[in-house]
Amino acid sequence: MNFAGHVLVPLFILALIATARCELLTLGLVGSVVSGIGYYVYENYKCTYQECCTDEYIKPDLDKLEYMLTAKLYGQQIAHETIITALRGHLGSNNSPKALVMSFHGTPGTGKNYVAQMIATAFYKKGVESQYFHFFNGRNDFPLQQKVDEYKEDLYRIISKGLKQCEKSMFVFDEVDKMPENLMNVLVPFLDYYSYRKSSKSSESMIQNKAIFIFLSNTGSTQIVKHLTSLWEQGRKRDDTRLQDFEKLIADGAFNEKGGFHHSDAIQTNVIDHYVPFLPLEEVHVRKCLLRIFSERGVLPTKEMMEEALSHLTFGPEPHNLYSMAGCKRIEQKVAAIVYRKQSVPRTDN
Ligand SMILES: Nc1ncnc2c1ncn2[C@@H]1O[C@H](COP(=O)(O)OP(=O)(O)OP(=O)(O)O)[C@@H](O)[C@H]1O
Ligand SMILES: [Mg+2]
Repeated sequence: MNFAGHVLVPLFILALIATARCELLTLGLVGSVVSGIGYYVYENYKCTYQECCTDEYIKPDLDKLEYMLTAKLYGQQIAHETIITALRGHLGSNNSPKALVMSFHGTPGTGKNYVAQMIATAFYKKGVESQYFHFFNGRNDFPLQQKVDEYKEDLYRIISKGLKQCEKSMFVFDEVDKMPENLMNVLVPFLDYYSYRKSSKSSESMIQNKAIFIFLSNTGSTQIVKHLTSLWEQGRKRDDTRLQDFEKLIADGAFNEKGGFHHSDAIQTNVIDHYVPFLPLEEVHVRKCLLRIFSERGVLPTKEMMEEALSHLTFGPEPHNLYSMAGCKRIEQKVAAIVYRKQSVPRTDN
């Protein structure tokens, strides 16, 4: 091999390698700068495009809630006051030691789901669509008693994850009376004073507990109806009844009736802060519901139309028949049928 073969070729190869490494280094450097900027942009702007656990997306507006309850919820003065006071107290304290736990009880169609939705609307920019609003249905989500252990694990996981994702999460459990017995017990650590935090190794600075749990059920409603009827018989007006008239009745009723609350730790350990009675609706309230539904359809109902709609509802219990057995539930369809029939009657004036 001559001089070129011995010296120039290796030099040329070395030069090539050096250039390639330089370019790789440059590329690597550029890559990390770009990904750094990307990450910065993503972190700073992601909440513009997607929901985050920030004040922009979670801004509890209790005045708005109060307005909605006043304007749209009929005949539930006790529930209205109890819920607003409970929420104001919970949000007002800077380091609430415990999640707020409310349990709504009452006969069908009295507004339990309706109010839970209003609360979500007043709390989250995205209302019930918020990823921080978690809704479970006892009957559909936990149908089988024999799978209770599996459900317990799932539920524990979902709630821990939800709370890690966002402190200000809301969990609504509908039809608690249809949940397998014992399942509720898995919730107790989340509902109790600090106990979830102590065991979950969370940092000391996170001592607030802003989560809200709401349970909905028909348990205790027999007691509510009986008691309200007896107050009525004594001449006491509905508006003069107080929370204290019902609270203990409901807790005892719920504890003893079959279903999710049956002999439950949640009740025994007193982690439920407020038992909220939803009173059965009287004709006067159902009339208001009907008027609202007619007006949402742009119809001012005649006396006959109102009477026809009312005739589809059953009032009970005997002998006074004061209360609509299904409250204001499923009256939309009746109204729709009446409006449709009215509008499709051929006009005879020409
Ligand atoms: N107190 C009320 N004031 C005004 N509207 C009401 C009231 N209660 C019920 N409604 C109307 O009836 C509908 C059904 O009520 P909702 O689903 O809240 O009943 P519920 O109490 O959850 O009954 P259930 O025990 O059968 O689940 C609501 O969407 C609302 O339009
Ligand atoms: Mg309901």
